[in-house]
Amino acid sequence: MTRILAIETSCDETAAAVVADDYRILSSVVSSQVDLHARFGGVVPELAGRAHVELLTPVIAEALVESGLDPSRPEIDAVAATAGPGLAGALLVGVSTAKALALAWGVPFVAVNHLEGHLAAAFIEEPGLSPPLVVVLVSGGHTMLASMEGPGRYRLLGQTIDDAAGEAFDKVARYLGLGYPGGPEIDRLAMEGDPKAVEFPRPLMDAGYDFSFSGLKTAVITFMRKNPNTPVADVAASFQEAVVDVLVTKARRAALEVGATGLCLAGGVAANSLLRERTLDVCIAEGLQAFIPSRSMCTDNAAMIGAAAFWRLEQDGPSPLDLAANPNWALPFIT
Ligand code: KG4
Ligand code: ZN
Repeated sequence: MTRILAIETSCDETAAAVVADDYRILSSVVSSQVDLHARFGGVVPELAGRAHVELLTPVIAEALVESGLDPSRPEIDAVAATAGPGLAGALLVGVSTAKALALAWGVPFVAVNHLEGHLAAAFIEEPGLSPPLVVVLVSGGHTMLASMEGPGRYRLLGQTIDDAAGEAFDKVARYLGLGYPGGPEIDRLAMEGDPKAVEFPRPLMDAGYDFSFSGLKTAVITFMRKNPNTPVADVAASFQEAVVDVLVTKARRAALEVGATGLCLAGGVAANSLLRERTLDVCIAEGLQAFIPSRSMCTDNAAMIGAAAFWRLEQDGPSPLDLAANPNWALPFIT
């Protein structure tokens, strides 16, 4: 049996997990820094890095204890860490720790791309996934539509040309005076609002597979300036409706065009209730399989990094110990 200790510190979650073959999670610990950053309305990179330094060792210790392995001599076969994309100072903490442990234990170090981790998340809960699949990867920093042709093999279909979907949720929420992070706040408030109250634009809806959310955000701001008395819940629901409409319409079209067996959601925004519901509706209507990870598997965690580490070890072998963290590391797509 192979066991991988995986570490995730790319943004504001400090996480460690032990993952065994067949994506079996022996433990998964996530310590969120959300309260630390909430009063600033966004992640403060310097604070995130410092908090990772404080939190990572106890989080790893907890993950080792929970895994049932002996923490003083854990039988770990490789140590993986997110090496990008993400905040430079935050990534360095996880990468350095993983390298040091790999060196001390005499086992391979594996650098994992954070986005590949999100893509691997669905496999943890549905190990029998059969590609080709169309994946909607929507997080705070990225929005892309990809076809997954096998574990660790993706073709890029389209991506955002400006804001990421999560970024749009966070910015609109801030403008509406809601808390941070904005996605879950809008999700909650939208349940009390009328999604048909305001007809917001659906940018690039019928054009290819790229996305654009910056204009939609501006449309919300312009509307609120002109109609300050509109209930915020109606605006939140109408905005969410527009984002989900664009995402699901394109995902459906892509799935039919590439002959995918199913649709798969990944990334923090995949925790959104309406996106989950609409994806399921489309899959039922089109006879596609729906792979919708649990909410805790959608947001940042280390179990998904461990799952992706298995793909990387199999395809590329261990990473060199002098590998640097890369804040702008792009997913290697096949062409
Ligand atoms: O994947 P993630 O945890 O971190 C990144 O890699 O970016 O994604 C965080 C993003 C944030 O923008 C947050 O507002 C959004 O995911 N998010 C949601 C929901 N839960 C988290 N957006 C919409 N609805 C949600 N329920
Ligand atoms: Zn993420």
